[in-house]
Amino acid sequence: MNEDEFKGELRKYVSKKCDSYSSGKLLPLMMPTFGQDEILEAFDSMVELNVTMGTKVEKLEKDFSSYLMGNGGAGNLLYANMVNSGSSANLLALSILTNPAIKNPIRPGDEVLVPSVTWSTSIFPIINVGAVPVLVDVGEDYLIDAEKMKEAISPKTRAIMPVHLLGNVCDMGAVSDLAQEKNLYVIEDCCEAMGSEYRGNKVGTLSDLSSFSTYFSHHITTGEGGFLCTSNFDYADLARILRAHGYVRHSLKKGEYVCATPGIDPRFLFVNMGYNFRPTDIQGAFGIHQLPKLDSFIKSRREAGLALNAALSKYLEYLVLPQEKKDTRHTWFAYPITIREGAPFRREELTSHLEENGIETRPLVCGNFAEQPAMRLFPYRKGDLSYSEYVMRNSFYIGIHPQLDSQTVSKVAGVFDSFFSKVAR
Ligand SMILES: Cc1ncc(COP(=O)(O)O)c(C=O)c1O
Repeated sequence: MNEDEFKGELRKYVSKKCDSYSSGKLLPLMMPTFGQDEILEAFDSMVELNVTMGTKVEKLEKDFSSYLMGNGGAGNLLYANMVNSGSSANLLALSILTNPAIKNPIRPGDEVLVPSVTWSTSIFPIINVGAVPVLVDVGEDYLIDAEKMKEAISPKTRAIMPVHLLGNVCDMGAVSDLAQEKNLYVIEDCCEAMGSEYRGNKVGTLSDLSSFSTYFSHHITTGEGGFLCTSNFDYADLARILRAHGYVRHSLKKGEYVCATPGIDPRFLFVNMGYNFRPTDIQGAFGIHQLPKLDSFIKSRREAGLALNAALSKYLEYLVLPQEKKDTRHTWFAYPITIREGAPFRREELTSHLEENGIETRPLVCGNFAEQPAMRLFPYRKGDLSYSEYVMRNSFYIGIHPQLDSQTVSKVAGVFDSFFSKVAR
């Protein structure tokens, strides 16, 4: 078989696999977005024996930084460091801000504000570094509530971690104002919001440090993976040291460190603590082909989200539907729905009907994280979490993915119609 025949066969095989991935479901939570390009590039890494972090990761980091900064046009130089997951990116961010090598580090017992509705590994890294999470309620948009965020401030507060959940964008004006007034660090968790924008700037460029995930179901995928981004040279340097064992190999100041330590072999010179959060070039190979497709994936997600809104808006009396907020660009990671108080049905009746008709559902991320048993094990503080408690019992989401077309949206709307024709007045 020659190369073209091989690629042709591979393309057919991958497209058949993708078609069968949904296993007949009308709307699965996610669909694969990679194919021949990513697989061949990964194959090249493997046959060239480049399976650890190397030149493809380096290229992807540069490309991602350009993507976020609008090809260098907007603001300061941004360092994008690829890591093996979004969770690792969050832990790296907290590890940098608590590191004795920085000025004014966060200390054990200091507090970090974080929304109570988020993924577990937005919260756990705060605990991992000995700080105390302060869970702040969310609004109807499932994002940190700006007023309650102010009320949660104490003399121990050192940082805010807004989470752009489900592709929707936090009120970064309110976050920045509060951070400036109280001298707080800001870490943006953008793991569900790659490509989202606030006032024309990409999320992830509006804070001291930001995290992204490239897990399978996310806006672009490298299988597992993520990025830790910052415009601060010292944080970027620490990110590269802490990402890889604490040694200087990838440090931006390697020469300085080596000159200052003549007695130790520079190949194994350790200048800080460290993890192993390195990605592989196989992940880098995926990413360099996924990233150029990101804007077209987002366009499809936005069309699908708006089409779902148009089809379901007749049920606004019963359902809270997602909205794109003023001055933002929403990237529709998924489609969240909350059952309004007084609706003549329970969430479980609607989700069972959807599941029976091939529409996969999930609880709205972790619900109110204060109610998760894990939080009984660790110290934390919380304010009034009444909307998060409501979300825990009354919210869920269905999938949005770039292949969700208008015909499928119509069929999905039909499934909602058949439910409401039975339950609603
Ligand atoms: C808001 C948020 N933060 C962090 C993460 C962790 O990312 P990863 O799954 O890549 O570890 C996720 C995962 O989906 C997430 O949704």
